[in-house]
Amino acid sequence: MTQRFRIEALVPTPARADFSCGVAPLDRYLREQATQDIKRRVANCFVALADDGAIAGYYTLAATSLPLTDLPAEDARRLPRYPLLPAALIGRLAIDRRFQGRRLGGALVMDAAARAGRSDPAVYALLVEAKDEAAAGFYEHLQFRRFASRPMTLFLPLATALQALDRAKD
Ligand SMILES: CC(C)(COP(=O)(O)OP(=O)(O)OC[C@H]1O[C@@H](n2cnc3c(N)ncnc32)[C@H](O)[C@@H]1OP(=O)(O)O)[C@@H](O)C(=O)NCCC(=O)NCCS
Repeated sequence: MTQRFRIEALVPTPARADFSCGVAPLDRYLREQATQDIKRRVANCFVALADDGAIAGYYTLAATSLPLTDLPAEDARRLPRYPLLPAALIGRLAIDRRFQGRRLGGALVMDAAARAGRSDPAVYALLVEAKDEAAAGFYEHLQFRRFASRPMTLFLPLATALQALDRAKD
């Protein structure tokens, strides 16, 4: 990615109207619902801004929980027997068509990991809902794994994501 982007919390801006990722419900969400969700404290929304103020991408982030029994046995074995584990959900992620394929989607997932790592409540894993197989493939490429019981939901232990972030800094 040669171009630099600023990633910050969404504020109501006319630039939302120009956003186009190729998936109409994701465009509409940014235009019509994201600021309501922030106000109601059900999801936060972060945007990547290009130099000219255009919204190049966005994602939403909210607290969620993960049943211990959903994890593969080898992951669950290393954890206490708490029935629910704390997690952070990337509910939506979209990159404007003009900016796709420049590693911005991956950068936004890592930004979510960094934010979850800084939060005071502990977060065990990042969760994502893939809207189709292509999206699931994208997340798998970023080391997310599918839950056996619900294969379009994927998880990435935060420790793994933070290690990747550390490696990227070196
Ligand atoms: C899916 C989407 C978020 C990906 O963002 P992007 O910025 O285009 O992707 P990136 O350039 O960050 O890709 C990161 C890596 O994933 C890989 N990748 C991208 N799409 C992939 C796919 N479908 N399957 C496997 N790997 C994929 C890239 O090759 C890249 O690999 P590299 O870092 O080794 O070169 C974006 O294309 C998009 O917004 N699509 C429309 C909306 C959508 O489908 N959102 C998903 C929400 S569920």
